[in-house]
Amino acid sequence: MGTTEVPQFQPLTQDLRTNVCVVGAGIAGLTTAYLLARAGRAVVVIDDGPIGGGETSRTTAHLTAALDDRYYNIERLHGEEGARIAAESHMSAIHRIESIASMEDIDCEFERVEGYLFLGGKETRKDLERELDATHRAGLTDTQLVDRIPFSFWDSGPALRFPRQATVHPVKYLKGLARAILRDGGRIYTGVHAEKIEDGEPGKITTTGGHVISADNIVVCTNVPVNDWLIIHSKQAAYRTYVIAGRVPKGAVPHGLYWDTPDPYHYIRVEAGEDSSAHELDYEMLIVGGEDHKTGQAQDTEDRFVRLEQWTRERFPMVERIDYRWSGQVIEPVDYMAYIGKNPGADQHIWIATGDSGNGMTHGTIAGIILNELVQGRKHQWAKLYDPSRVRLKATPEYVKENVNVAEQLKDYFTKGELDDIASIKPGEGGVIGRGRGKIAVYRDDLGNIHQCSAVCPHLYCIVHWNDTERTWDCPCHGSRFDPYGSVVNGPAIVGLSPVSRKRQKEPNESPQ
Ligand SMILES: Cc1cc2nc3c(=O)[nH]c(=O)nc-3n(C[C@H](O)[C@H](O)[C@H](O)COP(=O)(O)OP(=O)(O)OC[C@H]3O[C@@H](n4cnc5c(N)ncnc54)[C@H](O)[C@@H]3O)c2cc1C
Ligand code: FES
Repeated sequence: MGTTEVPQFQPLTQDLRTNVCVVGAGIAGLTTAYLLARAGRAVVVIDDGPIGGGETSRTTAHLTAALDDRYYNIERLHGEEGARIAAESHMSAIHRIESIASMEDIDCEFERVEGYLFLGGKETRKDLERELDATHRAGLTDTQLVDRIPFSFWDSGPALRFPRQATVHPVKYLKGLARAILRDGGRIYTGVHAEKIEDGEPGKITTTGGHVISADNIVVCTNVPVNDWLIIHSKQAAYRTYVIAGRVPKGAVPHGLYWDTPDPYHYIRVEAGEDSSAHELDYEMLIVGGEDHKTGQAQDTEDRFVRLEQWTRERFPMVERIDYRWSGQVIEPVDYMAYIGKNPGADQHIWIATGDSGNGMTHGTIAGIILNELVQGRKHQWAKLYDPSRVRLKATPEYVKENVNVAEQLKDYFTKGELDDIASIKPGEGGVIGRGRGKIAVYRDDLGNIHQCSAVCPHLYCIVHWNDTERTWDCPCHGSRFDPYGSVVNGPAIVGLSPVSRKRQKEPNESPQ
């Protein structure tokens, strides 16, 4: 976001009729829209932010087939054929991004690099050997076990080397896709929130502005589906992840992708230095991520950045100052593969792409490739592996664990709230306060004004928690997030927190602290 500008698109001012309406302009939505517009379909894309304003602008954009859930796990749940398709589809997604960038002349810094998985926690060389064998069975026959990452400044110990992986500037890539969609007759509207999505012939999307888009096919690419109530959300869980980017002298860290083995793991890459006007800089950015936790279930968000920096400085002493830090959301499916295809249940014309795991750039591209075929009434050989209606019985323990965790969050109804009174909330902070039998989400802005809304998440009624780092209300059940005033930021909620009082008010007898 800091190194490129995104173009403005028109707001929606009237009702529309189209063949395909894609909701969400991230990697999944724009890849789907691009391929369908190329195929001659009439495509409309809407997004309630700018293009790429969701997780795709927060990604670290490792393009890799070295899946973070490990091939031996994928093989256990989906069989050898499933693991083979997983490897084939992710490698194809990297090639597809490369070929689209080249064909459309998108200046998005696509670069082929090697990926290295190295030991970090309790895992041993045996675990790497196990993954090596599984990757070979899955068809990634050029994966190798090497003695160390080729760093001169730090001996990582044994690592798995994955050739022909890649990096890309995600927002620049999306800008190129958007340009091509418009050229092929597609229409893109931003600042347009879908508030209701209904199946039918045609299906209908009602926007917050009251306009209706009628479409033969609706593709919901909102990262988590905002049209589904429970089925999909019981099969995946939302996690927050944290990233820092620090300056390193040019050439000091070889370009590549690096991951360690613990859960949560660290993920590392280098980004060539460029400012927003594309001036080359004499330093590069080392981008390091990790410290994941379930959304809405950690209070120590600031400490996570501190730990990340400490971990980075211990291993990369050449890091100068930290220029950027941010956090984002990843969605973990219980059986490790994304859900791409027809929305489960009775819907006939609604398609979804979700469950990106830490590999959402390739999963989002796979979504485009599969949905392009399915929406046009054709089959695709990867569709069965990614079918949103699938049930993998061997994933039951993970399914039970995530849903027990959700049930445990209901305890918040019986506790008295995070804070005793509004006076204890400092400017720029928020907290949940018990009021009668209800719970109120109270935010005090930088000027000391108090804003209140219901703390009950409109999705399935869990109690939201304050996120200090992002200044958002985060739901611990399925990861919905809301800005300090209650507007929805991340689904599955499709509407915001209910207002307690619309007025921005100053509490009587209170002064800002
Ligand atoms: C910090 C971080 C690091 C990551 N690193 C990697 C990595 O190295 N490699 C990798 O492959 N993946 C990575 N991922 C995952 C990957 O970035 C994401 O999975 C991917 O970008 C998701 O793309 P998407 O199109 O599904 O969703 P998004 O990019 O979130 O797009 C969804 C869009 O839908 C819009 N929207 C939502 N609701 C509505 C509504 N009701 N009406 C209208 N619009 C709506 C949003 O505004 C948004 O623009 C990372 C993610 C994070 C957060
Ligand atoms: S996201 Fe499901 S209850 Fe809040």
